[in-house]
Amino acid sequence: MKNVRKAVIPAAGLGTRMLPISAAVPKEMLPIVDLPAIYHLVEEAVLSGITDILIITNRGKDAMEDFFDLSPEYEAALREKGRTDELERLRKIAMMANVTFLRQRETRGLGHAVGRARAFVGDEPFVVLYGDDIMFAKKPVTAQMIEAYKTHGLPVAAVKPVPPALLRKYCSLKVEPIAGEERLYHCTDMIKKPKEGEEFSDLAILGRVLLEPRVFDILDELPPGAGGEIQLTDAMAILARTGGMTALDYEGVRYDLGSKLGFLTANVVRGVAHPEIGEEFSAWLKEFVKEL
Ligand code: UTP
Repeated sequence: MKNVRKAVIPAAGLGTRMLPISAAVPKEMLPIVDLPAIYHLVEEAVLSGITDILIITNRGKDAMEDFFDLSPEYEAALREKGRTDELERLRKIAMMANVTFLRQRETRGLGHAVGRARAFVGDEPFVVLYGDDIMFAKKPVTAQMIEAYKTHGLPVAAVKPVPPALLRKYCSLKVEPIAGEERLYHCTDMIKKPKEGEEFSDLAILGRVLLEPRVFDILDELPPGAGGEIQLTDAMAILARTGGMTALDYEGVRYDLGSKLGFLTANVVRGVAHPEIGEEFSAWLKEFVKEL
């Protein structure tokens, strides 16, 4: 079995749930305190042993490229002022992985975006981290998925039980428990946006999947699904029915940065833990909630 060294981050969506800000600022660049959402995805991948990352972008998302590049003007200014810690922090971000970019060119859905990664992926397994889903966990969720892949040798979907209202928006997985495993299931089918009565279980895919290159042939043949888009879930349903997948009920907390509520919650959670402003922010927050 090949090592998992590559990750694809689709970040070319329109982000309509975050309008009006997303019309001018990519939602992946919205800050969680002082770091953009995309940083956390790249960090999770790197901490999981990933060395090569492809970010799928579109028009107006150049800020992401700038963020992972060296910044000579800032470096010169910080050097002159003797602010070496901040200088080091900036350089580390630029050096953290081989990050490359590719434009999707047409916004035709998550499946279409992932399909653009064929040449980058080659013949290796790879992880897809959805560009607006960040996850904070003791052991990175990507590392948990790679472990499941090494044990069972099948594509892996990161899943969680979700309430019925969310299941209708996401997908529902048909699963069987795997003997001796607490958080792993064998997945044999799935349905996207199930109507009432159509769901297989309360488990939905959230934000991460580990795939093998055969998914590209499936994606190439897929007709447009829900919303006229090429749906990654439709390709995964075929994988699940023909050979199966592993569903991993991962340990960690997910924040949907594509939604206003997820964005604010992530900022509060990281804000209270922030080494520079955490204490002051927590004190302010405690007073603030008394007034609510
Ligand atoms: P979402 O459906 O959550 O993102 O796709 P969206 O379309 O940007 O959001 P809304 O619904 O309009 O608010 C999940 C991930 O897939 C990427 C998005 O950037 C997001 O990270 N995506 C989606 C693409 O890269 N290309 C697409 O054509 C669609």
